[in-house]
Amino acid sequence: MKTVGIIGGGQLGKMTILEARKMDIPVIVLTTEHPSPASEISNDYIVGSLYDDKKILELASKCDVITYEIEHINVEILKEIEKQGKKVYPSSKVIEIIQDKSKQKKLLNKYNIPTSDWEYVDESKIELQLEKFKFPVVQKSCKGGYDGKGVFILKSKSDIKNMIQQESFFEKYVECKKELAIMIARNAKGEIKTYPVVEMAFDEKTNICDTVIAPAQISKEIEEKTKEIAIKCIEALDGVGIFGIEFFLTQNDEILVNEIAPRPHNSGHYTIEACTSSQYEQFLRAILNYPLGDTTLLSNACMINVLGEDGYTGKTKITGEEEVFKLPKTYLHIYGKRETKPFRKMGHITVLNNNIDIAISNAKIARDRLKIISE
Ligand SMILES: Nc1ncnc2c1ncn2[C@@H]1O[C@H](COP(=O)(O)OP(=O)(O)OP(=O)(O)O)[C@@H](O)[C@H]1O
Ligand SMILES: [Mg+2]
Repeated sequence: MKTVGIIGGGQLGKMTILEARKMDIPVIVLTTEHPSPASEISNDYIVGSLYDDKKILELASKCDVITYEIEHINVEILKEIEKQGKKVYPSSKVIEIIQDKSKQKKLLNKYNIPTSDWEYVDESKIELQLEKFKFPVVQKSCKGGYDGKGVFILKSKSDIKNMIQQESFFEKYVECKKELAIMIARNAKGEIKTYPVVEMAFDEKTNICDTVIAPAQISKEIEEKTKEIAIKCIEALDGVGIFGIEFFLTQNDEILVNEIAPRPHNSGHYTIEACTSSQYEQFLRAILNYPLGDTTLLSNACMINVLGEDGYTGKTKITGEEEVFKLPKTYLHIYGKRETKPFRKMGHITVLNNNIDIAISNAKIARDRLKIISE
């Protein structure tokens, strides 16, 4: 089997390696620290910055195909690696566009894929721009955002002083009915497979998007339309790999693309237990140019993120897992991060049940029982 090199040592890498192990696909990771979720179970690992030319070249020299589980990495060196004839999937061109949310939007707009209206922040006419967009308005940094960092919602003029001080754009605030997401895979032959459209729900307390409901409770028509847009997105990118696409479903049932992730995605964790081929297996198939796997949803499911408990920072301590193991059709994933901090993604729980309301309520019970604190 060909050797896969993954840039990044986080949980997405770890779950990819768990699938790779089944098929004896060797995986080497570049990780900023060891132990990390991925480096602990990989065949080999290199410790270094994800921007370090030499380390990425070293990884490439040991692997047949290079990929990544995070988009904040050195793109220039990926271009070099491609020039040397080595495969990088998704390509350097794809990640270059996705790294910069404004480039992403430009590409989508070029292909007439609907997004929320936006425009670059212009220091010299912020007041005018705010008049145009009206409050609330969303400010997003072009680069470097993740898990809501790099997103700032201005509610009134008094928020101007707290704006993000980086290259950024204003985006029209979308009053949405639901936030939707989909996983979609494409291999180098151009074969495409979509997973079911799912719904992302928010924790009322923290407003962190932490629950995924599969499938989304939407009409067949909206589901089909969302899938069509997802296919347009991946074709516009000429993307090879697995992609998570986030959408807003507006009050008038418009479907707007929010953003695209060029890798396995939080909203696709449920596929491990709920689909024939998980997003991680599909990721490997796509980047190794194998036929893509079946994406059938075998059971309705609810996935809930396990975040570090508020008020606890330090060496990770897990409590309440015994109570979680008592619940039916409930799958516990702990990523193995040695250090916890408030709201850090520490694991997730997936509950299967064809009655989606039972799946959701059991997932919430499981999450309330499990606490990630510090020693
Ligand atoms: N235009 C908008 N209108 C309303 N809400 C928005 C808008 N843009 C972003 N949000 C809210 O902020 C959340 C995070 O935004 P976005 O997905 O762009 O940032 P991110 O940092 O890349 O997030 P993540 O890594 O969590 O996916 C969205 O899921 C949504 O709830
Ligand atoms: Mg997002």
